[in-house]
Amino acid sequence: MTLDTALVTRSFAAVEPYGPDVAAYFYDHLFAHTPEVRGLFAAHIDEQRDRLWAALRTLVANLGKPQNLQNILEGLGRRHAAYGALPEHYPAVGASLLATLEHFAGDNWDSATAQAWSALFGIVSAAMTGAAADTAEGGSADAATVA
Ligand code: HEM
Repeated sequence: MTLDTALVTRSFAAVEPYGPDVAAYFYDHLFAHTPEVRGLFAAHIDEQRDRLWAALRTLVANLGKPQNLQNILEGLGRRHAAYGALPEHYPAVGASLLATLEHFAGDNWDSATAQAWSALFGIVSAAMTGAAADTAEGGSADAATVA
């Protein structure tokens, strides 16, 4: 699957004006569809919403900079291992993210855009879970690469 960064960037630009409402919708969707992950998060997730939103903006802003992306995702992946996030949680998070973007993107959403986000989420998941596994194994394995 190839990553069409233009489709990701264009749809994200359409979603961006909705700001933190996007993250709020995402968590409502995730906890409604995957309630088993609710316990991993703090009871009050207001700050978490802002952090997720900031992380998404940073990821999209660094799409053309694979080394930056790699560094960001390795850090995120290692921290997520400590939060108790497991590789099997990632597809549910990806599904809620896509549902959220589709909800806010309006006319800027179609099947090609969904595929582009799916490809991006695959890259993000691989880099994050690879870094988490690397940490668990004491740093011996290579983390998945972004480029
Ligand atoms: C696209 C993938 C993901 C992104 C961009 C992302 C982003 C973030 C960010 C920015 C934070 C704030 C803390 C930090 O920077 O370390 C965070 C915290 C957290 N994330 Fe994720 N995340 C992703 C996937 C997941 C998955 C798959 C899970 C598993 C359910 C998860 C569970 C958590 C938890 C439990 C916290 C800590 C919340 C707290 O302190 O209450 N995340 N995430």
